[in-house]
Amino acid sequence: MAVVPASLSGQDVGSFAYLTIKDRIPQILTKVIDTLHRHKSEFFEKHGEEGVEAEKKAISLLSKLRNELQTDKPIIPLVEKFVDTDIWNQYLEYQQSLLNESDGKSRWFYSPWLFVECYMYRRIHEAIIQSPPIDYFDVFKESKEQNFYESRESVIALCTHLQQLIKTIEDLDENQLKDEFFKLLQISLWGNKCDLSLSGGESSSQKTDVLNSLEDLKPFILLNDMEHLWSLLSNCKKTREKASVTRVYIVLDNSGFELVTDLILANFLLSSELATEVHFYGKTIPWFVSDTTIHDFNWLIEQVKHGNHKWMSKCGADWEEYVKMGKWVYHDHIFWTLPHEYCAMPQVAPDLYAELQKAHLILFKGDLNYRKLTGDRKWEFSVPFHQALNGFHPAPLCTIRTLKAEIQVGLKPGQGEQLMASEPCWWTSGKYGIFQYDGPL
Ligand code: F6P
Ligand code: MG
Repeated sequence: MAVVPASLSGQDVGSFAYLTIKDRIPQILTKVIDTLHRHKSEFFEKHGEEGVEAEKKAISLLSKLRNELQTDKPIIPLVEKFVDTDIWNQYLEYQQSLLNESDGKSRWFYSPWLFVECYMYRRIHEAIIQSPPIDYFDVFKESKEQNFYESRESVIALCTHLQQLIKTIEDLDENQLKDEFFKLLQISLWGNKCDLSLSGGESSSQKTDVLNSLEDLKPFILLNDMEHLWSLLSNCKKTREKASVTRVYIVLDNSGFELVTDLILANFLLSSELATEVHFYGKTIPWFVSDTTIHDFNWLIEQVKHGNHKWMSKCGADWEEYVKMGKWVYHDHIFWTLPHEYCAMPQVAPDLYAELQKAHLILFKGDLNYRKLTGDRKWEFSVPFHQALNGFHPAPLCTIRTLKAEIQVGLKPGQGEQLMASEPCWWTSGKYGIFQYDGPL
């Protein structure tokens, strides 16, 4: 086994992990409890007495969770039987086996940050599924939908841009096509600023014109491997036999505006024939506030289709058609909502790993995916990305992420230190972004 650095954790007082566990996650939990209160009459009372009781039960379970967190109580096993319960509880045992402390109990501030943050979202889900008949309620649905509605002008601008582009796509030369590809990649990157967990669940929509801001944002791209993506896909297109396929997989992150940017990119990949199939991976349960579930995916396409705008509706109708024709395929897998680092995928979810191996390119969207790719560990800034992946190489892959956690690898010697000296929050503010590729060059 390769030697890997320690995990980020709340033990480091003042670190972003520490502040997240101390302030941001309790804030998110409070917001969830408020949401349940607010939906009392409109949603729960519809289920009669049973609904009202269920709402009370969920609130009390969530309040208990908040108390456990704030008083740094031991992490307890999950109790409600669900598809992944045993895997979670085994993982907790494994974490406990790594502890030197005398009581052998994992605690919120002393366990790996990645584990406890994922655990918190899984416990929220447990509180909901323990409370039938409201066990299908998505506590983050409202925030996700609001993010989409508030981004309407930007969504229209992107849909219009895409439809104009498609009209003339066959007349574009290689360089023009590449420029357009790069534009849409950058839009998908900056779309990742719209995550709702960094803002503690508060609104974080896209109100400015991202298309016209790309030049100004370029200096904030710290690592830019877009050329590799172009070489790989344009090469696939040139060498592809008539009936064969080029599969791009997108491991999705946030719903709302970010998802629109990903679908616009996916649409372009088909229209430009850089890919013939796009596969999307979402979350099976509500996750990190804004992450995409199948419900969000279908809801958003429907909203775009009925958006009361010519080009928006055209996009929505095309997207629906791609799904029907199997050119776009949405997949679920419980692995994406487990706490494991991705290097554990071959052991924990061999079926998923085998599926990913069929991709010509995998795009991992967002910060949490980056943390899981690199194990959320205290790597030196200049460690090569390939090394930090720690054996996870299912297919050529690229991470498209704005930085929101104290982890970054693959920088030039001295680059991270320099940024740190001039701007201590450079890696947590979401202001910087990366395209970081691993695969054959
Ligand atoms: O750092 C803020 C945070 O909540 C992290 O805990 C998490 O990695 C990230 O935001 C989620 O961001 P994204 O939606 O880009 O994965
Ligand atoms: Mg997210």
